[in-house]
Amino acid sequence: MSVLDKFSLKGRVALVTAGAGPLFGSSISEALAEAGATLITASRSLERNLEFAERLRSEGYDAHGMQLEISDLDSIRRLHDQIIEKHGRLDVLVNSALARVGGSFETQTPDDWLYSAKGDMVGLFAICKAFVQDMVRQRRGSIINISSIYGVVANDPTLYEGTDMLQPPHYNFVKAGMINFTRHIANYYGKKGIRANCISPGGYFDNQAGPFVSAYCKRVPIGRMLSNEDIKGAVVFLASDASEYVTGINLMVDGGWVAL
Ligand SMILES: NC(=O)c1ccc[n+]([C@@H]2O[C@H](COP(=O)([O-])OP(=O)(O)OC[C@H]3O[C@@H](n4cnc5c(N)ncnc54)[C@H](O)[C@@H]3O)[C@@H](O)[C@H]2O)c1
Repeated sequence: MSVLDKFSLKGRVALVTAGAGPLFGSSISEALAEAGATLITASRSLERNLEFAERLRSEGYDAHGMQLEISDLDSIRRLHDQIIEKHGRLDVLVNSALARVGGSFETQTPDDWLYSAKGDMVGLFAICKAFVQDMVRQRRGSIINISSIYGVVANDPTLYEGTDMLQPPHYNFVKAGMINFTRHIANYYGKKGIRANCISPGGYFDNQAGPFVSAYCKRVPIGRMLSNEDIKGAVVFLASDASEYVTGINLMVDGGWVAL
């Protein structure tokens, strides 16, 4: 077997939560489909996921759209049962969904934190728990949690000067927690054939305010924000047998942001 064969996901079933999203979600999904996986994407809008899957099928990939509200335990249960009934297994789980809450330290409320906790803490735990049972049965599974540079370091307030962009404080909390939760799964289930890793990307270029983009690019060693191609290699590496001895890591895809 050549090393390139180890990156193949042929015969594997992969779920990406929020995998039809316009930024990282769709990049992650495309990467897994291109590597040969049967791909399922799921988020709040069933229609959007069905359309996205249809687009990938028209390009020759095996893709399916389903519905998921990550802050709703019944929704997680339904998604799990649907996938196991239809595909019989899940080999790769990518947790990219974020129960998005805006605001800043001044404007966020305890209710905002409770909503975030329901999705990004309880929901994350529940979806991992649901599919871990199947992965244990299969004696194989790769869980990839999408954290962020802001799970490793806090925001640099000077980047936001001259813009109305906000720095929501709960984000640092949930993304940092996600990294250590991932290590817990890696340690607890390693001997049962399950690997768990994080990917922590830097900022995706999404036409943010000019002063922010300039300040960001000046600070980051690689000199630019992320585009949709930048996360694909990391995802396929961690999903596939190319990384079969890699677990519990937090792979920075950040252009060197935290190296400074
Ligand atoms: N955008 C960035 O610069 C950036 C940087 C680092 C990390 N991340 C992380 O990448 C992941 C994807 O974010 P993105 O910004 O690329 O967005 P994205 O393009 O993947 O779109 C967000 C998706 O999340 C879905 N979603 C929102 N709330 C949901 C809920 N309650 N239940 C289920 N689905 C829900 C939306 O339907 C949408 O499809 C997130 O975990 C985010 O924290 C993003």
